Amino acid sequence: MKSTTIHIGHRIRQGQFAYFTLIQLNLYYLCLMANYRFFLDYLKHYLTAKTRHGVHSPFVYKLIDEVIYDFREKSYEKSIEQERTKLKNNDHSIVVTDLGAGSMMNNGRKKMIKTIAKNALKPKKVAQLLARLAYNFQPASIIELGTCLAITSSYLAKAVPTAHVVSVEGCPETAKVARTTLSNLAIDNVEIKVGNFDVLLAPIIDNLEKLDFLFVDGNHRKEATLTYFKTCLPKVSSRSVLIFDDIYWSTGMKEAWQEIKNHPDVTLTIDLFYIGLVFFKQDQVKEHFKIRF
Ligand SMILES: C[S@@+](CC[C@H](N)C(=O)[O-])C[C@H]1O[C@@H](n2cnc3c(N)ncnc32)[C@H](O)[C@@H]1O
Repeated sequence: MKSTTIHIGHRIRQGQFAYFTLIQLNLYYLCLMANYRFFLDYLKHYLTAKTRHGVHSPFVYKLIDEVIYDFREKSYEKSIEQERTKLKNNDHSIVVTDLGAGSMMNNGRKKMIKTIAKNALKPKKVAQLLARLAYNFQPASIIELGTCLAITSSYLAKAVPTAHVVSVEGCPETAKVARTTLSNLAIDNVEIKVGNFDVLLAPIIDNLEKLDFLFVDGNHRKEATLTYFKTCLPKVSSRSVLIFDDIYWSTGMKEAWQEIKNHPDVTLTIDLFYIGLVFFKQDQVKEHFKIRF
């Protein structure tokens, strides 16, 4: 994925570094911004979101300072990005089974792996943030809905090698490529389950004592997203974090995000525009944050 980085603004980390940061726009999001409403949502988010200044919750301040804005390179990042580059240059085609919101357009079609790698994977910036979040919370288990070619699965697995990562993918041929990605990176703590989230999520959740960390990155439909959220609720605790991708992708996803925020069990949310974080911390007065990322 080609990326254009525009740094605007200024931030100081632990009084040692002063450097420019703030908006990172890459081609993935520029394409999405061709959608006028999406662009307006982005603009609105940017203008109303905070940096860590002005955030009074110590938990959120620390998370922003030490995790969300920690852009230092991590040891596992280079090898995963090399694997992404290989996928983006892979001319082989596979037949795609799409069980998600794009199923009308994509089902049964042949697609080049490089096309999937360019269009469907989380950009480096978001994938690396997911890894930092996972490292910070040190979950014993991680669930990912939407393996695709296993780039985010690899980040999650490498960030927390002690975690058991279960990643669900509906397309058998895509899952096969994902297994190669994991094997190339010598990752052995990811279990890929092939099937529909609608069928597989409930038994996965049932088998857990507690749900630590979940990343939903597929089937961006309102009702499906809300069903996945509700399926998780019996196993959430004060330590759980649920992460929803593309919360501004469509009117339905925006509505789903609002419903999740308003759910009585949810005590804290952090809207980073690209993804939304949901917490169930008992010691927390209900609060919603919009943070620039
Ligand atoms: C955006 S991609 C995931 C990208 C991946 N997390 C990454 O960045 O490395 C979404 C994936 O979810 C899968 N998917 C969508 N809806 C699904 C469903 N209902 N059940 C199973 N898989 C589904 C698609 O086949 C696709 O590969």
